[in-house]
Amino acid sequence: MKTLITKRLILRDLNMNDLVPFYTYAKKPNIGPIAGWKPHESLEESRKILKMMISENEVWGIELKSTNQLIGTIGIHVRNFDNAINNVKEVGYVLDDTYWGQGLMVEAVSAVLDYCFINQELDAVLCGHAKNNSQSKRVIEKTNFKYTHTEPRDHFDKTKIDIMMYELTRLDYLGGKMNDKS
Ligand SMILES: CC(C)(COP(=O)(O)OP(=O)(O)OC[C@H]1O[C@@H](n2cnc3c(N)ncnc32)[C@H](O)[C@@H]1OP(=O)(O)O)[C@@H](O)C(=O)NCCC(=O)NCCS
Repeated sequence: MKTLITKRLILRDLNMNDLVPFYTYAKKPNIGPIAGWKPHESLEESRKILKMMISENEVWGIELKSTNQLIGTIGIHVRNFDNAINNVKEVGYVLDDTYWGQGLMVEAVSAVLDYCFINQELDAVLCGHAKNNSQSKRVIEKTNFKYTHTEPRDHFDKTKIDIMMYELTRLDYLGGKMNDKS
């Protein structure tokens, strides 16, 4: 994937050297479940998931410039047929809780949106959060997505969970950029 550089972050390809920092946050009980996935139970489990993410090539590793350490991931995914025919991708992200509350994910999402609309020429980008995930809701609001609907999705514990879905269209994004400059 194209490397994206922001003020404090480098968004770059994942590699197997990321395994230990990846496992460090993926095992925490307060991180995966609010994003819909089960905390990793072993380094081996993280190894398999990291390997799969590398081969899928849809996810950037988020590296903190000041330490050159992996602190999270952000990816863009075609989740279904409608996404594909509408030239739309869905963004998903996670950050080690050690780094929460510093605006880092807003920085990462902003760089990914530039990439989606300028390099990939997508027509819209989608993002969703579980109803009780106020932190992710704030990231989505701060990056100017608009709420569209709520849909049930599978949770890792085999229950259904309501996901609030948002969209940012290419027109709104580019219009917003023009306003920023004027
Ligand atoms: C969602 C997430 C990526 C936000 O990243 P971030 O870089 O911390 O985002 P921000 O710094 O912009 O903070 C977002 C909000 O979280 C709040 N927050 C920060 N630390 C918090 C904490 N420890 N507990 C609760 N809320 C917290 C902040 O107050 C902020 O809201 P504000 O802008 O109104 O003040 C991060 O919380 C995370 O990885 N969560 C787990 C995975 C996840 O939910 N992924 C998204 C799936 S939809």
